[in-house]
Amino acid sequence: MTTTSSWLQDAIFYEIYPQSFYDTNRDGIGDLPGIIEKLDYIQVLGVNAIWLNPCFESPFQDAGYDVSDYYRVAPRYGTNDDLKRLFDEARRRGIRVLLDLVPGHTSHLHPWFQASCRYQRNEYTDWYIWTDSGWTWEVPGLRLVGGYAERDGSYVTNFFYSQPALNYGFANPDPCHPWQQPVDAPGPQAVRRELRKIMAFWLDMGCSGFRVDMAGSLVKNDPGWRETAALWQEVRAWLDLEYPEAALVAEWSNPPVSIGAGFHMDFLLGFDSAGYQSLARKTSTGGKGSDPYGCSFFDPAGRGNIRQFVDEYQSHYEATKDQGLICLITGNHDIVPRLGDGRANDDMALYYLFLMTMPGAPFIYYGDEIGMRSLVGLPGKEGALGRAGARTPMQWNGGPNAGFSTAPAETLYLPIDPDPRRPNVADQEDDTASLLNRVRRLSALRHAHPALQAAGGFQVVYAEWGRYPFIYRRSAGDETILVAINPAAYPVEVSLPNLSTNATIETLYGLADPFTRSDDRWTIKMPGVSGGAYRFAYRLIE
Ligand code: GLC
Ligand code: CA
Repeated sequence: MTTTSSWLQDAIFYEIYPQSFYDTNRDGIGDLPGIIEKLDYIQVLGVNAIWLNPCFESPFQDAGYDVSDYYRVAPRYGTNDDLKRLFDEARRRGIRVLLDLVPGHTSHLHPWFQASCRYQRNEYTDWYIWTDSGWTWEVPGLRLVGGYAERDGSYVTNFFYSQPALNYGFANPDPCHPWQQPVDAPGPQAVRRELRKIMAFWLDMGCSGFRVDMAGSLVKNDPGWRETAALWQEVRAWLDLEYPEAALVAEWSNPPVSIGAGFHMDFLLGFDSAGYQSLARKTSTGGKGSDPYGCSFFDPAGRGNIRQFVDEYQSHYEATKDQGLICLITGNHDIVPRLGDGRANDDMALYYLFLMTMPGAPFIYYGDEIGMRSLVGLPGKEGALGRAGARTPMQWNGGPNAGFSTAPAETLYLPIDPDPRRPNVADQEDDTASLLNRVRRLSALRHAHPALQAAGGFQVVYAEWGRYPFIYRRSAGDETILVAINPAAYPVEVSLPNLSTNATIETLYGLADPFTRSDDRWTIKMPGVSGGAYRFAYRLIE
C-alpha cells in the first residue's frame, strides 16, 4: 500500500469511552490519569492504537459530541497536560492515540454559536447556517430550530437541537434561498481554517490523528459528496505534507467514497451496511418475515448468510484496497447490544478470529475483549438515549464497583452490570482459556504474520448462500494463511478443489489439523463452533 501511513499496516485499535474506563479521583467518572494507569493492560492486549471518544470541554448533552471548546480537555477528565502525558506514555509503549474530531457541529453553548446568535453582525455571524427568518420551519434535507436567537433566523442542526451545524457552505446553493452560502464564501472558508487549526493544535501536542465524527455531513446539499470530498482531500494533502504519520478514520460507512475523499480508513457500520449487520447484529431466531436470512452469521443457530457480508465487503475492498483500510469493529459507543449479549465466549472467540485475520484495521470496543454485556432499561444519560446500555463502566475485577471506581456506587457515571456473573479482567487474566487470553493470542498472531495484516492479500475460498463455514486466504510474500470459521453448532465438511495439494499445512491457531488429502483435493472437517488459522507451506517438487 503506497498512500497509507505505514504504521497502519499492523494497527489494532481499542476504543475508549473515557467516562467509563477508569476513575482515579473518586468522582465516579473515568479520567485521563485512569487511562494512563491502564496503558500496560492495553499494551498486553496487543493493541497499538487508541481511539478516544471526545474528551473536550462540553455541556455533555451528547456525551461530549457537543464541544464547547476544541482546545481544552474537559475538567472532569483532567487537563491538557494530562492528555499530553497520555500521548507520551502511550507512545513509550508503542501505542498511538487518535482523538475524536467533531467537525460538523458544536454545542449550542459554544461561544462561537452564542456570538453567531447575536443581532449585531460579528466575526461568527456566518460560522453557522442560519435561514433569513426565525419563522422558517422546514427546508427539505435540513433540520431547523427556530425561535432560539435574537437574530432573525432558524439554525440548522446536525444532530440534536443542541448541536448546530457549522457552516461549510452548500454545494448547490438554492437561488431562492440566498442564506445558503457557497463553499468559498468567507464564513465557510473561516470555518475550514479553524478546523485545520484544531487538528494542528493536538497533532503538535502528540496525538496521531483523528476519528472524524459524521465525516460526510459537512457541506450541505452535496449530492455524491463532491464538495465534502474536495474539502477532505484538501485536509489530507495538508496532512501528508505537515503530519505524514497522522491518520484519519471516517465515521461514514462508505469506504469507496470516504477513502476516495482522502481518509485513510472508514468503518462498516449498521446504518449503511447490511453486510456488517449480517455478521453479528441480527437475532438468533432469524428467518422471520421478508428476511429469510435474519439470523447473524456468527450465531450457533447456524442460520446466517455470510454472502450478505462477503458480496458487500468484496466490492468495497476491490474499490479501496490500494488506497485505504476498511475497519471492522466489535461494537462501539452507539451500538446496543454489545457483542457479548447472548453470546458464549466460544462464539465470541470465533468473531475475534475473523476480526483479527481480515484486511484493514480491527477495532475493539472497551470491554468487548472480556465479553461485557450491555444493560437494558437505563435512562438516556447525557443524550445517550438507548445507547447508554453499551457505555457502562469497565469491569476490572470482582471487587466493589467492579474495580472501576472507589466512589459510592450511586454516584457512578452509569451503573455497573448488576449480574453477579458479570465478566471481569482479573478473573480472565488468570484463566488461559478465557476470552481475554484468546483475544491476546489472536492479536499476537496478527502482529506475527504480515499476511494477516492490512495489506496482505485476501481471497474468499468458501462462502456460500446460507451455508457454513466461511473460509478465506490471506497472503504476503511467500506466506499463505487459510482461515476457516464455523460458528454453527453443527459439524460441517467441505472439499476445497482450488487449493493445491502440493503443500504441508501447519495449524497456527485453533482447531488442530482439520484437513485430509485425497488424490486431488483437500477436505476440511470442522466440528460445531470451531475455527482456526493454517499456514500452507508449498513444496517445490511434489
Ligand atoms: C456520531 C457519534 C455519536 C454522536 C453523533 C453526533 O454518530 O458516534 O455518538 O451522537 O455522531 O455527534
Ligand atoms: Ca474521575
